[in-house]
Amino acid sequence: MNRSMQKRVYIETYGCQMNEHDSEQILRLLQRSNYLETEDAQEADLILVNTCSVREKPEQKVYSALGRFKGLKEERGTIIGVAGCVAQQEGQRLLARIPYLDMVIGTHAIALIPQMLERVEVIGEKVCETGFDTEGKHLDAFLPQGQVSVVKSYVTIMQGCNHFCSYCIVPYVRGRERSRPSQEIVDEVSHLAQRGVKEICLLGQNVNSYGKGLKEEIRFPELLSRLDEIEGVERIRFTTSHPKDLSEELIQAHGGLKKLCEHIHLPFQSGSNGILKAMNRGYTRESYLEKIDRLREVCPSIAITSDVIAGFPGEQEKDFEETLDLMEKVRFDDLFSFKYSPRKGTRAAEISDQVEEQMKQERLALLQKIQKEITLQKNQALEGCIEEVLVEGYSKQTEQDVTGRTRTHKTVNFEGDLESTGKIVPVRIVKAYPHSLRGEILTD
Ligand code: SAH
Ligand code: SF4
Ligand code: F3S
Repeated sequence: MNRSMQKRVYIETYGCQMNEHDSEQILRLLQRSNYLETEDAQEADLILVNTCSVREKPEQKVYSALGRFKGLKEERGTIIGVAGCVAQQEGQRLLARIPYLDMVIGTHAIALIPQMLERVEVIGEKVCETGFDTEGKHLDAFLPQGQVSVVKSYVTIMQGCNHFCSYCIVPYVRGRERSRPSQEIVDEVSHLAQRGVKEICLLGQNVNSYGKGLKEEIRFPELLSRLDEIEGVERIRFTTSHPKDLSEELIQAHGGLKKLCEHIHLPFQSGSNGILKAMNRGYTRESYLEKIDRLREVCPSIAITSDVIAGFPGEQEKDFEETLDLMEKVRFDDLFSFKYSPRKGTRAAEISDQVEEQMKQERLALLQKIQKEITLQKNQALEGCIEEVLVEGYSKQTEQDVTGRTRTHKTVNFEGDLESTGKIVPVRIVKAYPHSLRGEILTD
């Protein structure tokens, strides 16, 4: 390869795991067009910002990120593109609003990036692709190639969402549900395992719907059993699961499949039946709590994490108290909490009874305070226990420490060397912190 021809791409990613995974795919695709990744935007020939529009805050980050790159465009003629959910949502409007922008890459347009880039580089055109690929062709455009991380990897099993929770923009920016054929997923996972990947995280906005609309008769639990048999894979996770569609079969899988980790992320959003109804979630607090009980019966060590929204329109003090009550009943291992953020085009944004900003803020702060204590107590309960840790590499803090995760998805830092990367090692937990655990490797 002619090195002088080699170009550099800098990519900044916001939002969820789908976006992180999309950014990995984009990089792999660009490598084939002679681009190498750089962590320094200053030396890049191409800058991409992969965006999220789920709440106002992540959306605003996009505009400030782009502002930082304006100077580079003027000095070096760097090509600048926006991908992801804001790109999908705003389309041409982004090109009009940001004159130094060259490319708008919608959520279904990743496979088109090389052609789009060519149009920008050769013809100097500004390009925007936001069509929805309803055939699902782009799903198979990226069978894994080239280098992959040795430890863990995401695998998309489905895209889009049909749920239309009343607050959520995702179905509008990611389109309708489409599942990937199971053989394609099995092949991808086998391929990753052959390359030494130990942990697979299956991705979808609602993995429980996997299989609907496919020609073959297959559902998510069956896909899990097929993947569980693949040699070399040590751990399987998935995200995200919707409580409404969490089937008894999937609950049973947590008791039966040896590689499926003891962790589930099951967003509850609110503890009030009235608010759940207004959110169009399709379950009640009672049925949610029943499912939690079943999960714990089948798999007593399972860690449960969740998402919650504070200040959904119409949320009264008593609704909020029910949310706190549900949190106390379940005692989640961890909880991601968000202030409700109205999204244009969603039903909840039209409700007149919006909760005041200050109230939302107070409720969020209280949720977070309570959860912080629960998380710490859950972590403290592990002190003295021995956990299997899959080592991922050096910890961010110091190079004396390596870091990894337990099967329950908790981060453990301990003294060790890089040679253990990719191995599952026994570690005794010596100290619990709110966001991580400190351990000591057992050597014999
Ligand atoms: N598909 C996943 C969630 C994707 S969005 C699921 O259904 O579980 C991730 C989280 O963002 C949601 O669970 C919700 O808690 C939060 N969220 C989505 N839209 C929001 C909004 N308009 N305001 C505040 N939080 C929101
Ligand atoms: Fe959004 Fe609801 Fe779909 Fe999750 S299930 S992506 S919250 S619409
Ligand atoms: Fe954000 Fe899009 Fe994910 S809106 S949460 S990046 S699907």
